[in-house]
Amino acid sequence: MPLSFLFFILLWHESDTWGLKNGILHNSIWLEQAAGVYHRESRKGKYQLTLKEANVVCQYEGGTLATINQLAAAQRIGLHVCAAGWLAGGKVGYPIVKPGTKCGHGQTGIINYGYRVNKTELWDAYCYNPHAKQCGGVLTDPERIIQSPDYPDEYEHQQICYWHIRLKYKQRIHLHFLEFDVEDDPSCLSDYLEVYDSYDDLLGLVGRFCGNKLPSDIISTGNVMTLKFLSDSSITAKGFQILYTAINPSDPFSTVAT
Ligand SMILES: *[C@@H]1O[C@H](CO)[C@@H](O)[C@H](O)[C@H]1NC(C)=O
Repeated sequence: MPLSFLFFILLWHESDTWGLKNGILHNSIWLEQAAGVYHRESRKGKYQLTLKEANVVCQYEGGTLATINQLAAAQRIGLHVCAAGWLAGGKVGYPIVKPGTKCGHGQTGIINYGYRVNKTELWDAYCYNPHAKQCGGVLTDPERIIQSPDYPDEYEHQQICYWHIRLKYKQRIHLHFLEFDVEDDPSCLSDYLEVYDSYDDLLGLVGRFCGNKLPSDIISTGNVMTLKFLSDSSITAKGFQILYTAINPSDPFSTVAT
């Protein structure tokens, strides 16, 4: 194994995802909407997918593995992900916007590992799906109710949803759980909702929730929050409804009337 390869692996470990669009810093979840290209890792964690499994991950959500050209188009509008993933045709690469020593060796564009002979190597996946995703999205309204997929019916198996709440600078986000019923297991590893006080699901984990006990209210420290919902392929449940409201800086203890 070449030394540079090992070097990349070490660097990728410190991943971050962000990008610039219309002069505003966004994370990859935001940009996914624009380009139809998004990054996925296995439920088991980073770098756990063979080519075949990567294909299945994308197909499950109605998409396909992205081509190098689709990934390049996403990179040009700011998709920056510090993790290598399978692409169509058994290639591997990742998109870098901001040159840095921590990721991509100071290069920008698509860091391209080319065609992999060994299809059981383990990487993440880059999917392409020009249609709306089944669930999740970018929310900028000052107040909104977030529902699990198919609510009030039971959510389906194998769902992966990201909601990215992005309010005005200096506003904070108040999450209030209205209803909560997610398959219960002692460590919340089957189905769960995770709340991050952050742009993405890498930093700022506030909690992972399952079962049918209503979680307490959560208030963000900044103007962004990320909610991630995963379900596995057994048992489902009714799901959840969560109300979020903006808190203005001048009025930190009450929610905004809209
Ligand atoms: C292919 O990659 C996998 C995962 O890294 C490894 O376990 C396997 O030994 C590799 N096969 C060959 C033929 O190099």
